[in-house]
This record gives sequence, structure tokens and C-alpha cells, in this order.
Amino acid sequence: MKTNHLNVVIAGGGSTYTPGIVQAMISSRDRFPFSSLTLYDIDEARNDDMFEIIRYMLKKEALSKEVALYQTTDAQEAFTGADFIFSQLRVGGMKMRELDEKIPMKHGLVGQETCGLGGFSYGLRSIKGLLEIVSYVNQYAPDAWLLNYTNPETLVSEAVRRAFPEVKMLNACDMTISIEETIAANYGYDRKNWVPMYYGLNHFGWYTSIYDKSVDRDVLPEILERLEQERLHVADFNAGDDTWQEAWDMMRLMTKNFPGYLPNNYLEYYLYPNRTIEHTNPNYTRANIVMDGREKNTKEMARKVREQEEGEILDFNFGEHGQYIMDMAASILNDNHDRFMLIVPNKGAIPNLRDDAMVEVPAYVGRTGAEPISLRFAINDFHKGLMEAQNAAEKLLVDAYFEHSYQKALQAFTLNQTVYSADPAKQILDDFIKANGDYWPELN
Ligand code: G6P
Ligand code: MN
Repeated sequence: MKTNHLNVVIAGGGSTYTPGIVQAMISSRDRFPFSSLTLYDIDEARNDDMFEIIRYMLKKEALSKEVALYQTTDAQEAFTGADFIFSQLRVGGMKMRELDEKIPMKHGLVGQETCGLGGFSYGLRSIKGLLEIVSYVNQYAPDAWLLNYTNPETLVSEAVRRAFPEVKMLNACDMTISIEETIAANYGYDRKNWVPMYYGLNHFGWYTSIYDKSVDRDVLPEILERLEQERLHVADFNAGDDTWQEAWDMMRLMTKNFPGYLPNNYLEYYLYPNRTIEHTNPNYTRANIVMDGREKNTKEMARKVREQEEGEILDFNFGEHGQYIMDMAASILNDNHDRFMLIVPNKGAIPNLRDDAMVEVPAYVGRTGAEPISLRFAINDFHKGLMEAQNAAEKLLVDAYFEHSYQKALQAFTLNQTVYSADPAKQILDDFIKANGDYWPELN
């Protein structure tokens, strides 16, 4: 494996998350020496905005000579010679995210980008887009490592496992890191000392312990106690973002009613769909907030860079997202065996769950890829029942994708844990078929 002069590709280069990834790459150059960065996106205008922003960042860090920066909409050009590919597609962009969120709400159900039926709509689009990327990697850079952030993670990783079982790919989500960072910032811990135990599906799991090496004990019981007493506030990296404040408040409600475990905040959509519907404006959802916030800011940044405006141009806090993907890449490269939460085929990691479920558990990462841990205990019936039903729904949806089966899609929609009746399931499925058009596979 090449360990120097690495060529890195960001697939979905135009994403507002790209500056955060590049920032982390720049500060990690000693352990991840890259010499070229290619932004690949099918949206040329967005990719070009990002190209200008990243060029500016490299210049500010005096790296313009050491790092060659490219942008392209051509897959062959992008992936040929790549060593690492970071994939963060959003097929259909924010406009389609808006529909994923709004259509289910019209029928009285949860409207969310990765959970519930919005997540299933996004899933069928995303599988198509990500399989395309994986096929390019297979063709043009078969030895490269693909680090995937593309949502909805369980669905896309299940599809890739079926279509390309041999690809060198890690599937990761930053939500557990955000939860840990937020708790650490609120209650005065340092996450770097933590060895957490966690299991679930993506955006659908629970912490059972958090061993803190600095004090040599499990600190989860005291964290749960504090959650009972004190509100958890939005950490700096999500400052001013009320949606996250609601999410943390819901997390506290879950720990109150189902004590003993720290749940992933996304479980609110499955356990309290009524409440999440109540606190979401059906005409102005998260997609609108992101479009009017992060997306506009990024466009504005690109304009400032183009017009060579003076003053502070990069004006947002990037958070942990980029650092997480960077740490993972460095752990592969340097064979560090650092520990991350990854989405992997179960294969006994959760002993009493089917082997072929895609689960999210801790894993050690090195040159040979991910080595997931085994829990060595059976999970309880409450979590198991929820996971099995949701997992079956997700499996059915991936079946629907490959078999072009309307019936399987309807079964998946009906079984989704946010759905109370096959009536809205069918209406929403039919609405989504129209709304997604060619983004979706044909269903017969
Ligand atoms: C977390 C999740 C991601 C999700 C993101 C949405 O980071 O882990 O899977 O995409 O939140 O954030 P946004 O600001 O776009 O709503
Ligand atoms: Mn995620």
C-alpha cells in the first residue's frame, strides 16, 4: 500500500461538509500525507464553488504547491489513481430531501431524511447513486479504500454488500461521535479517554457502557443520572441549531422512560413519532433550515472567495464530522487499530441477531480493514424486537431495489417502525414513486 503522496477523491465534492473534511486532512498531514485532492460531483456549479473555497483554504495554509487540487464531473478522470475515496453523496440534493421530509407528513407520519419513510425514499435513490460510485472504484481504482458517509447508511451498505462484497469499504456515521462530544462538552469529560460499548442498526442503537480510561471505570451510570437532572445543551459545533436542541431533549425523555441505556437520538422517530410530528413544521422542515443556513452560507463563501473580499471568509465551526473520517483513513494507513463505530455485517457481533443484518458496533481499523468486536452478551428483547422489525423492513426495501418489486417495497413501507397502517404506507409509496421519477428504480 502506498503510504506517501496519496491521491484523495471526495465523491460528492460540492457538499457543504467538504471544507470540514479538508480542514481535518490539512491538520493531519503528518499522519496522512496526501499530495492531490480531487473533488468529484455531478453538479458542476456546486463543485466549482467548493473548488474555489478549498483552493482558498490551501492557499491560506501555504499548501498550494504541495497539494494539487482538481475538480471534475468525469468518473474515470476522478477515480483513476485514487488511493482513498471519501464518499458523501446526497442523491437528489436538498430539493429531494425536502420532499422526503414533507410527503410522509402530509399523510400524518414522521418526515425525516434517514428515518421512517423519508429515509426509505432517500434509500432507493441513494443505493443507485452509491452503487454507481462503487462500480467506478472497482473499475478505475480497485485497490483504493472507500470511506463512506453516504446516507441512509444501513440501506446503502446492505446494497453494496450484496452487489460488491469484495470492495475495500468502511461505512461510518458521525452521530455517535456527536452524541459523545455533546455529552463530554456538557458534563466536562474528554471523549478521547472513552471506550464506549454500543450496538444497533445505523441511527438506531444504544450505549451499554462508556469506560473512561482516565478514571478506570464505566461513566455511563453517572451520565444517565446527570441526564435526568440537567438539560443537555447544543455543543459549540452545532451552536444556534434548535433542531439539535430538540433532539437532545428527546434523548433525555427516552433515557427517563427507558432507563439503563443511552439511546441514539434518532430513536425518537421510532419511539415517539407523535411528538416528533408535533414539533416539526410540515411546511418548513430540516431541509429548509439547511438550505437557508449552511447551503446559503457556503454559496456566500464561494462568492467572497471569487470576489477576493477581505476579512474572515471561512466563518463556521466544522465540528467532528471531518476529523472522524480523517482519523479512520489515518488508522488504515498507519495500521493503528483505533476504535470507531462502523456499520458492518453482524456475523455474530450481536450474538442473538441474524448474521446478515448490517449492524453498527465498535470496530478496530487497520491495514486489513475493520475488525468488529463481538458483544459477547445477548441483547434484550425490547431492543432486539425493535431492531429485527426495522432490519426486516430495510432488507425488504433493498430486495425491492434489486428485484424491482412494488410488493416488496410496500411490505417494507408497511413494516417500517414509524408506520401504523398499510393505508398511509401505500399512499406514501405511490406519492414517492411519482416524486422520485428516474431517481428510483422502476417498481412493478
Ligand atoms: C448527523 C447524522 C448524519 C446526518 C446529519 C444531518 O450527522 O449522523 O447522518 O446526515 O446529522 O445533519 P443536517 O444538518 O444536514 O440535518
Ligand atoms: Mn449518520
